Amino acid sequence: MTDTLLRVRHLRTYFWTLDGIVKAVDGVNMDIGTGRTLGVVGESGCGKSITALSIMRLIERPGKIVEGSVDLDRTDLLKLSESEMREIRGNAISMIFQEPMTSLNPVFTTGNQIAEAIRLHADIGAREAEDRAVEMLRKVGIPDPERRARQYPHEMSGGMRQRVMIAMALSTYPQLLIADEPTTALDVTIQAQILELMKELREERRMSIMLITHDLGVIAEMADDVVVMYSGKVVETGDVFTIFERPHHPYTQGLLGSLPRIGQRRGRLRVIEGVVPNPLNLPKGCLFARRCPCVMPICEQTPPPFQEVHPGQVSRCWLTPAGTTPAVGMTAPADVAEAEAARMTITADSGRQSATAAQMGEVGR
Ligand SMILES: Nc1ncnc2c1ncn2[C@@H]1O[C@H](COP(=O)(O)OP(=O)(O)O)[C@@H](O)[C@H]1O
Ligand code: SF4
Ligand SMILES: [Mg+2]
Repeated sequence: MTDTLLRVRHLRTYFWTLDGIVKAVDGVNMDIGTGRTLGVVGESGCGKSITALSIMRLIERPGKIVEGSVDLDRTDLLKLSESEMREIRGNAISMIFQEPMTSLNPVFTTGNQIAEAIRLHADIGAREAEDRAVEMLRKVGIPDPERRARQYPHEMSGGMRQRVMIAMALSTYPQLLIADEPTTALDVTIQAQILELMKELREERRMSIMLITHDLGVIAEMADDVVVMYSGKVVETGDVFTIFERPHHPYTQGLLGSLPRIGQRRGRLRVIEGVVPNPLNLPKGCLFARRCPCVMPICEQTPPPFQEVHPGQVSRCWLTPAGTTPAVGMTAPADVAEAEAARMTITADSGRQSATAAQMGEVGR
């Protein structure tokens, strides 16, 4: 029996630009358990939004999903027809986008839009749907929700519209909520209220959440599991405590560097020296090599495979599980390392899926 709601495997989404192919998402794997929250972190441009949009199948030209599977309850979304996919969006999966305004219709009142969304997914009357819409607006911290429900999107501030979108996304009780930087533009009190609402729905409805955020405080508060992305790839995964207490990958350590300890204070992603590599000119070995304080000769030659460094924690790095000398011989060819990593089975913590390092690793790089 599986408790995994969403299983993403070997997902690749590329953009064909005039300058060349941008591998925005390059062999990404991630699992989200039922009723669990997966936090996705990484610097700007590392492929978080494109991963989310690929799951929703909202990639537009010049982009294309070139490989992979996205299983929701064992149905591969990448194999569905466009009309079947429309059924999934806003029903089984809701997404809160990074930029507000994108999914609000300017010609309908906000209350109307939410009520319509509710009625598409629940067999209830217009009056009841309107009441529920007002209730949702109240829950996302909108004052005087009865009046606001009668307003059009352009009559509201950006922050208010973002809250309307969140209300709409949550009002249909999705199985999976994908929230891409959902509260970045909102003030802390509203942010706390919205996170609380997400938690409430997670408990009440066993909703699963994919939460993309720059705010490590939010991750510490909300996430059960964490995926760290860099340059279109997952570089480390583990449960939230492991990632905060014992990060393995030097990139994860860099991101967490400014945070003293989990839960003590809020922190944003630390600025690590250097910049993410140009996606059109990626280094040959480890993508983080140019910025890594621990770089070794093998790192510049051969991309590191995933290795299990602790039960439930995998890291794409040549360092040993203890974070010291290379895990395999300095000159080990990649296939030897891959084979070594493949033998190591990740025994996940309760509620998480078991997976082998081979499954987490790339195929056919
Ligand atoms: N429409 C596009 N055309 C070309 N490249 C794109 C496009 N959209 C995104 N990308 C590239 O994909 C990569 C990942 O972007 P994104 O997923 O938005 O990053 P983030 O982690 O900040 O959400 C970036 O290198 C970005 O430049
Ligand atoms: S593989 Fe090497 S360069 Fe890459 S993160 Fe690990 S130690 Fe640093
Ligand atoms: Mg983004």
